[in-house]
Amino acid sequence: MTRPSTLITNIGELTTVDPARSAEGVLRNAAVVMEGERISWLGSAADAPDADSRFDAEGRALLPGWVDSHTHLVFAGDRTAEFEARMAGQDYAAGGIAVTVAATRGASDYDLTRLLLGRAAEAVAGGTTYLETKTGYGLSVEQEARSARIASTVADQVTYLGAHLVPAGADADEYTELVCGGMLAAVRPYVQWADVFCERGAFTEEQSRRVLAACRDAGLGLRVHGNQLGEGPGVQLAVEFAAASVDHVNYLTDDDVDALAGTWSGWDTRGGTGERGTVATCLPACDLSTRQPLARGRRLLDAGVEIALASNCNPGTSYTSSMNYCVATAVLQMGLSVHEAVRAATYGGALALGRHRGSDEDGLRAVGSVAVGHRADLHLLNAPSATHLAYRPGMPLTAAVWRAGERAV
Ligand code: NIG
Repeated sequence: MTRPSTLITNIGELTTVDPARSAEGVLRNAAVVMEGERISWLGSAADAPDADSRFDAEGRALLPGWVDSHTHLVFAGDRTAEFEARMAGQDYAAGGIAVTVAATRGASDYDLTRLLLGRAAEAVAGGTTYLETKTGYGLSVEQEARSARIASTVADQVTYLGAHLVPAGADADEYTELVCGGMLAAVRPYVQWADVFCERGAFTEEQSRRVLAACRDAGLGLRVHGNQLGEGPGVQLAVEFAAASVDHVNYLTDDDVDALAGTWSGWDTRGGTGERGTVATCLPACDLSTRQPLARGRRLLDAGVEIALASNCNPGTSYTSSMNYCVATAVLQMGLSVHEAVRAATYGGALALGRHRGSDEDGLRAVGSVAVGHRADLHLLNAPSATHLAYRPGMPLTAAVWRAGERAV
């Protein structure tokens, strides 16, 4: 069966982020053809083939859609008061999660789904075409399973975060056992990943290790919330368990950076080939909202670590899904070039989610870069170049979005 094709032509600057291409994978005066959900052709606009329909990009910049690899979107309630207290000088503490747990438990399935759909729609409106989200505001067998089930109806990938906080009144070790046992079994049908908040006030190194081992044995991919509020064991644990990512990474020792770099020693960054390591996911919107030092993206890149940029959209530390904002912040305040920031927010996120390549076995297409055969996830800017993301921060730069070949914005 032939699928309808669309030609996007007159693209002033096409950032492919395709590691197989040289010169940062940027094409000028380019065109892309989408056929069904996939990209079937790209190259010079002058050579473009015919298609069933045609979209004139009018010289503007086209990028891969953002891959947001770290969000917590299944929640109810509001934490404005906590944010105000923080802006008045109070420190962020893990315990604030309990406020959202209470509100989330009290919400109906209908309301939780409606809230999640609204947040996912906001993300797409900002250019996000591939979205991960987590459980972690249920913290009981029934409530975590409910969050995972609802998340799986909306997000592209779901992460189990029963180990987000020990609920009030629970014994930490007994709760950890539950996270590794009955709760894991209940969420398992809905999730691909597991995560643990390894931090003071949340889970200790030993408890985190138990969670990661149980989830690995259950066949889940792993990630870790680590080194957000201070130096700690999160990064080393992520490396020990060959986690796909360690997220936050605000406080790193030289040993942490070396350990992460070591995981990428068999990887060719320019070609995107070889054995992948543990992605360091930087969350600049969260760092600003919690007034933590910004994650050391520059240092990590210089050490040879692949990084991702993600929004960490959640009610406590980062109530925004704007990847445009994250990219602008990474350039303006973290020392990344525009191309490095765009790559981290697209290809880097795909690496963190294991979707930088397609899988013939599962019929899954690669996301996070523009290449023939990849999913047609595209983000057109109201600007002639990607540089405008940082040059004009806060401006409404998203002009159009295609998700799996369908016009979404
Ligand atoms: O990634 N750090 C842990 N989890 C979230 C915050 C959750 C909350 O405070 O509600 C984060 O920042």
